Order: sequence, then structure tokens, then C-alpha cells
Amino acid sequence: MNMDYSFILKDIKPTTDEEKEVKRVSGMLLDFINDKCAVEDIDAEAVLVGSVAKKTYLRGKSDIDIFISFPLNIDKSVLKEKGLYLAHQCCDAFNVRPYHQFASHPYVTTEIDNFKIDFVPCYRIDDGSQLKSAVDRTILHTRYVQSNLEDNQKDEVILLKRFMDMTGTYGSEFKVGGFAGYLCELLIIKYGSFENTLKEACTWQYGHRIDLMEYGTAKQFKDPLICIDPTDKNRNVGAALRLDKYSQFIQSARNYLNSDKKEEYFYPIKKDITKNTILNELEFHESNYIAIKFDIPEIPLDTLHPQLKKTTDSIEKILNKNDFQVFQSSYWTDEKNTAIVLLELAVFRLNNIKVHKGPKIFLDDACKNFIGKFGLENCYVLDDYLVLNVEREFVTPKSFICHLLTEEYISLIKVGKNLIKYILETYEFCDLNDLADDEDVLIFLDDFLNPNQHIKR
Ligand code: CTP
Ligand code: MG
Repeated sequence: MNMDYSFILKDIKPTTDEEKEVKRVSGMLLDFINDKCAVEDIDAEAVLVGSVAKKTYLRGKSDIDIFISFPLNIDKSVLKEKGLYLAHQCCDAFNVRPYHQFASHPYVTTEIDNFKIDFVPCYRIDDGSQLKSAVDRTILHTRYVQSNLEDNQKDEVILLKRFMDMTGTYGSEFKVGGFAGYLCELLIIKYGSFENTLKEACTWQYGHRIDLMEYGTAKQFKDPLICIDPTDKNRNVGAALRLDKYSQFIQSARNYLNSDKKEEYFYPIKKDITKNTILNELEFHESNYIAIKFDIPEIPLDTLHPQLKKTTDSIEKILNKNDFQVFQSSYWTDEKNTAIVLLELAVFRLNNIKVHKGPKIFLDDACKNFIGKFGLENCYVLDDYLVLNVEREFVTPKSFICHLLTEEYISLIKVGKNLIKYILETYEFCDLNDLADDEDVLIFLDDFLNPNQHIKR
């Protein structure tokens, strides 16, 4: 039986008021910039892009993306200078403060009447192959969706985005590594509806291919999901989708289709998280928890998150290599001042000795040297190796971590390059009891204890 989504849509679609406001504010900004271009004879055009232009945005998430497009023959420095100039003029005219962002491409953000606004300079292209900067495809994406997504399919996109958002797989930013909005739109164009997309997803394999324009270029990609960009045959729209999020989406689709509480998948999970229950759950594992807290620099989030992940993974790896068995690890950050790397270990303390491996027994000279160095009385044969027992330098994970987090030894782990100085100068071990006083950390700990709990209801 088909589900009636009208009640859910009533909650998640923008209200008529929001729609009207978005239209008014975006229209006003476009007019201002385009008038300015005409008056000052600047060859550029402001265009509305993103989910607002495609009418596929979720209620309360009407970020206004305005792209200012320039002809291909102008220099990048001119594009930047004139683009930023127009954005600044616009901010001045509406009495708001412009914020410069330089992730990989210069752009300006601001807020007008409670709407977040992006002004992004780009080149005007007709085909993905002409692209000169990373953002140039966006106008083509907007046009493609506007002319290929049926009116009645906009609700399907909104349902899919909301479902993904509530199950933790929406968003192509590194923090999530999930599905981009544009990818959701292409899925609906391909499969027709929200439900049909989920049905299809249940049987997806690693490397599933979607090629709406039949370019035949999917072979060149090795990603978990390959969705060839209809506006650029050499671009995989699923490039930012990580294998774990791809897998979680497939399983969440199965869970949903089998569920008799389908509507609950469109809302946050109902759960009372208290400090007490979380601490009890943590205690139940009888694990050795180590929380390393440090200050973070002011860098773009798509730089910060990969560096934190790399640092966390690398600490886990070196601990495992040194016999400190890690059960799981993760990180948390407020994205402003602080980050915490959290490790859950299966061991508190190792024994005092370890095996130091020498040469293979068949290497006569090497064995002679080894014995010469360590003394015959200390050496023995283990399998086909000459070995000896030596005292461990570090028997607790904390002492080992302290050793690693020093100027001299930090190069043994792969720490994000912007973080090194901050970790060395500010790191401290924290008690989970204290950390759990922070509401956000509590949610993080809950997710740590219940991996991808959001994909089921
Ligand atoms: N974009 C892209 N690849 C990304 C992120 C964004 O090509 N990884 C382009 C897409 O054309 C997208 C536009 O930039 O439509 C705006 O990005 P964003 O605001 O992230 O996506 P929306 O489609 O607007 O979806 P929503 O805001 O509803 O999440
Ligand atoms: Mg958007």
C-alpha cells in the first residue's frame, strides 16, 4: 500500500510565507547586482542557483545562493576582484556585513532578513568541459534540474533529502560525507519517486552506476556510487559520498521499507539523553576511555574535519601497532575553539616485556651479529626467528600518547598540518564525567555508543 506523505510534507516543505520571503529577498539582490552591472558597464550576470532556485529546499533551510557569472575570457584575478566588488556593493546597499570565505574559491557570505546569502563569482559556461573554476558547473546544474525535474517530483526530492537528513546521510560536506542535494535531485530524475529510489537502493552494489545522459564514462571512476553529471561527462556527482554513508543509506532504505512506523523516519529519533544514562552505558563496557582535548585553529570546516579524522585514525593505528588494542575511536569539535579525540581501548595496562624480533634463523651472519649485540644468554628462537624479550618502554596507553605528543615524536603520527602546533601546545586528557556536562558532547557520546543509530526507528 502506498504511503500518504501529505502530512509529512506539511511539516517539512517551506511555508508560503517562507517562499514569498525567499522570492522577495533573492529578487531584490539579483536586481541590485544586475542593475549595478548595467550602470557600471560590468560584463557579468547574477543568477539564482541551488535548491532555492530549483524549489527543492527544506523548510527553514532556504540559503540563498547567488552566482555572479563572468565571461570566460577574463582573468581569474579580475573575476575575483569584480565579483567581490559587486558582492560588497550589494552588502553595503542592504546595510549588512560581508564575510570573505576562501576555501578553494573566493566568495562572500552574509545574512539578510534572517536568510544566509552566498555570493559566488564564477565563469559563464555552456558545457562542463569549459570549466575554469570548481564552481562553474553550478549554473548548469540548476538549469538541468529546472528543465528535467517534473513539478510533482519536487516533493519527492524534499522527502528524500529529509529522509537522508534524519537518518544522517544528507550533505556532501566532509563532516558528513553523504549525499549532495544535486545528487538527490538526479536520483529522483532517474527513479521517479522517493519510494522508488529507496527500493532501487536496496540492491545497489559497490560501484553502482547511474548515467542519465548515457555518456558511457562511468568506467573511469572507482567510487562507491558513480553518478555521471549530466552537465559534465567527466564528473562523478557521488565523488564526495563515503563508503560508510553509502552503506548506511542502503540499509536505512531497507529498514524503512520494512517498517510499520515509516513516518518516524522523517523526524529526529525520540530519545531522552541524560548524563547519567550515558555514563552508565560507557561504564558498562569497562573500557579504557581516553579523551584528548585541544584547541583548534580558525580554518575552513572542510579542512578542519579531514585533519581531525586523519589525526584520530592515525593515533588509533599507532596504538594498535604498539599492542594497545583500540576498540573504537572518534572525534568531536565545536568547530570554533575545541576538539576532542576519543579513544575506547580494550586494555588499561600491558605486561612489562615484549618480544624484540631479530633476523631469520637461516641468515648465519645476521644471527651472529644479533647475538653479539644482545648476548647469547638473552636470545631464543621463536618460529624461525631469533628473538629476545625486552622491557616495554610504555605499558599504559596514556604514557605512550604523552610520548607521541611531543615536538620530537609527533611526526610518528599523521596529524593534520594545521593542528600540530595546537595539539602540542594545548592538549590535555579529560575525564568523560566532566565532558558529559556539555549538551553537544553528550549527543556525541550517545552516537559513539550507538553507531549509526539514526538509520533505524
Ligand atoms: N554543488 C556541487 N557539488 C557539491 C556541493 C554543491 O556541485 N559537493 C553545487 C550544486 O549545483 C548545488 C549548489 O552547488 O546545487 C549549491 O550547493 P548546496 O547549497 O550545498 O546544495 P543545494 O542543491 O542548494 O541543496 P540544499 O541547500 O538544499 O542542501
Ligand atoms: Mg543550498
